[in-house]
Amino acid sequence: MSNEFAGKTAIISGGAGGIGLALAEEFGQLGMQIVIADIDQKELAIAEQKLRDANIQVLSCPLDVTNYQQWEDTVAAAEAKFGNIHMLVNNAGVGGIPGSVDKTKIETWKWVLDVNVMGVVNGTQATAPSMKRHGQGGWIINVASMAGMNGVPFSGAYAASKAAVVSMSESWAVELKKHNIAVSALCPAFVQTRIHESLRNLQPEYKGVKDQAATLAKSGSAVNKAKALVESGIPTSVLAKRVVEALQSGQTYIFTHPNFRSTVAYRSSLLDAAFADAENSPIVRHLKDDEIVML
Ligand SMILES: NC(=O)c1ccc[n+]([C@@H]2O[C@H](COP(=O)([O-])OP(=O)(O)OC[C@H]3O[C@@H](n4cnc5c(N)ncnc54)[C@H](O)[C@@H]3O)[C@@H](O)[C@H]2O)c1
Repeated sequence: MSNEFAGKTAIISGGAGGIGLALAEEFGQLGMQIVIADIDQKELAIAEQKLRDANIQVLSCPLDVTNYQQWEDTVAAAEAKFGNIHMLVNNAGVGGIPGSVDKTKIETWKWVLDVNVMGVVNGTQATAPSMKRHGQGGWIINVASMAGMNGVPFSGAYAASKAAVVSMSESWAVELKKHNIAVSALCPAFVQTRIHESLRNLQPEYKGVKDQAATLAKSGSAVNKAKALVESGIPTSVLAKRVVEALQSGQTYIFTHPNFRSTVAYRSSLLDAAFADAENSPIVRHLKDDEIVML
């Protein structure tokens, strides 16, 4: 098989189901060796068998992305089995619990930020040194969301976590360019997965999250709405093909839902208007043409 992915190795967090498993199948079919790592060991075993049945070379590793040591173990196991790692997909994530800012428990914030933000930080810190060391370049795909491009009312923790993933991707894309590692932020809108059932993966240390979930479940409507939105989404297989296409054209942002363009354009127009306001301000307008100095 001759393509830029064949013979290379990918680690995919949250690879036991949903978007992660679809990417494992897609990149596996392109000839990559696949490491799927997931907190759900039962689903992990099923996914491993599914990939094996499709003649994909696969290794599965138990991993809670919030645990840095488990990330190091995953990278070591991947290298022992397949050699150099060329792709990291920071995909594992949880949807949080819909709720207004005053009703969202601090423990819910911690759960969502630990998994969705620190999981990506841990994965990249554990993997990037080895990707830099072999010098062959590669890809880091951070699974963010359209929610990272705009705020989402009643989903502040989830939106904040995904905005952080977009921002980290933008930062690392510049940092890692000289190592020939392309970093991208994958920003889907709705995709048909089990993201609305994320509580199934709740670690015991965040037990307070369950109280908020129980209160929400009594009302029913937000839960049903989240389910309906996810079910209205695109199939994971379509998303996976789109990711391969976008990587080949070297995009930093990978968009899968062109119909959301107007929502991001609206945000851009607000930012532009706010800059125009600053340019007209007698307090700061003298800075308008100052040179921009960055690190
Ligand atoms: N489905 C959507 O509509 C949608 C839209 C935008 C972004 N996303 C993002 O896509 C990513 C994948 O989610 P999905 O939609 O496939 O949902 P999913 O719930 O079907 O799959 C998530 C996978 O991550 C695993 N996981 C959860 N917590 C983990 C942890 N602490 N450590 C390791 N693995 C863990 C789960 O076991 C599962 O296999 C997430 O980051 C999500 O935020 C999803």
